[in-house]
Amino acid sequence: MTFGTFPAPLTRRSFLVRTAACAGALALPAGRARAAATRELTLTPAPAKAALVGPPYPETAVWAYDGRVPGPELRVAQGDRLRIEVDNHLPAPTTIHWHGLRLPNAMDGVAHVTQPPIAPGERFVYAFDAPDAGTFWYHPHYASAEQLERGLSGVLVVEEPEPIRVDRDLVWALDDWRLDRDAAIVEDFGSGMDMSHAGRLGNTVTLNGRIPDAVAVSTGERLRLRLVNVANARIFALRFENHTPTVVARDGHPVTPHEPAEGIVLLGPGMRVDLVLDCGADPGARASVVDVFPRDPYRLLDLAYGETPLRESPLDASLVLAPNPVPEPDLAAAPTHEIVFEGGMMGGFRGGREMMRAMTSRGLAWAVNGVADDGGHTISPLLTVESGRSIVLDLANETAWWHPIHLHGHAFRILERDGAPEPHTPLADTALMAPRERMRIAFVAEGAGDWLLHCHVLEHQVGGMSAIVRVV
Ligand code: C2O
Ligand code: CU
Repeated sequence: MTFGTFPAPLTRRSFLVRTAACAGALALPAGRARAAATRELTLTPAPAKAALVGPPYPETAVWAYDGRVPGPELRVAQGDRLRIEVDNHLPAPTTIHWHGLRLPNAMDGVAHVTQPPIAPGERFVYAFDAPDAGTFWYHPHYASAEQLERGLSGVLVVEEPEPIRVDRDLVWALDDWRLDRDAAIVEDFGSGMDMSHAGRLGNTVTLNGRIPDAVAVSTGERLRLRLVNVANARIFALRFENHTPTVVARDGHPVTPHEPAEGIVLLGPGMRVDLVLDCGADPGARASVVDVFPRDPYRLLDLAYGETPLRESPLDASLVLAPNPVPEPDLAAAPTHEIVFEGGMMGGFRGGREMMRAMTSRGLAWAVNGVADDGGHTISPLLTVESGRSIVLDLANETAWWHPIHLHGHAFRILERDGAPEPHTPLADTALMAPRERMRIAFVAEGAGDWLLHCHVLEHQVGGMSAIVRVV
């Protein structure tokens, strides 16, 4: 696999200051089953400080949920009812979108579409059930390109009643930041340059809110790693040196356990992959996890083995998770719609120069079926479909750039890419499309309302690459 469009972050070169810090992931023991319950939670987005880089650099002024970057790791049980009160202490309006959850449209958290923005000083209560187990996340859906980049995002884990057996269940929230020499966020959000190219790529990659160095592991240990890409634009392609991870879920939904293609875990913005990693190296060993997406691959972190093995031979337990109750599309009955993404540098529009001029005058760079959403979401729906109907979308990326395409409130099956069947036909809510690639997906429309379909490179989203699927 070759990628070769991104520059590597300056992580190890410019901020090589941390030496033996553990990744600091929060883990709860797996294996607790409990009856469905109502979980009452509060989240307070507010300005805060975060030690992204660490001494001798100053802390970074961020926006954060409950003062933490990433926000608190929410863990609930499958089937629980969530009641989450959001208390906006930001100097700006905001909302929270529950990325990947199948929930009522009014709880989807999209400003100007499913709710008015929550003004500074105001509160809003989100209440919904968590029907699917898996790894999900939450983030604002108001001025997203700025608000996520300032630090607003967090991971939501919905635990299976019967999880797979592992020794530790770790969340790895991957982010990247554009920092200046004083570790302050460069405030050029949504610049035209970022919008029309690969999006806002940072120079500093963090894992769970800090530059990672080593994650301590033990010989014989089995880890469940919940990888979540919360970056605005950075795509990760992770290779685990001397280790063979097994993919067990994609965007929260179980897949037949398999090794990632070519040993590379590819993770576009918004995507999640659950891995099982058997730590088979000798006590005292180190193995790097390398991001090979950029032109110059860089070491993300090391797995650092302790001196005492946990067990002699690897754990022998099933890696198969029970499927989620997602309705299966009826392909024979499903109409097919073609969705064309166009624009960006070295791209152009089917509508030619006139379209290009119109786009430029509105400060936009991308269009979906010839229509660009300026962020006000006042466009008419891309398509309207009855609830309960199956639908096939033929997505065509007619651009020179990668796009992680996200559909709100649904899990779709990825059927084909460029006419070839997608291995394991995973369920997903966000799927990465390579330049010029075509991808065929299918899903059952659920829940009346307007659901966004957009690129999760947030600068592309605000640059017009967003549309509405209306379910009636
Ligand atoms: Cu994760 Cu429309 O977003
Ligand atoms: Cu995009």
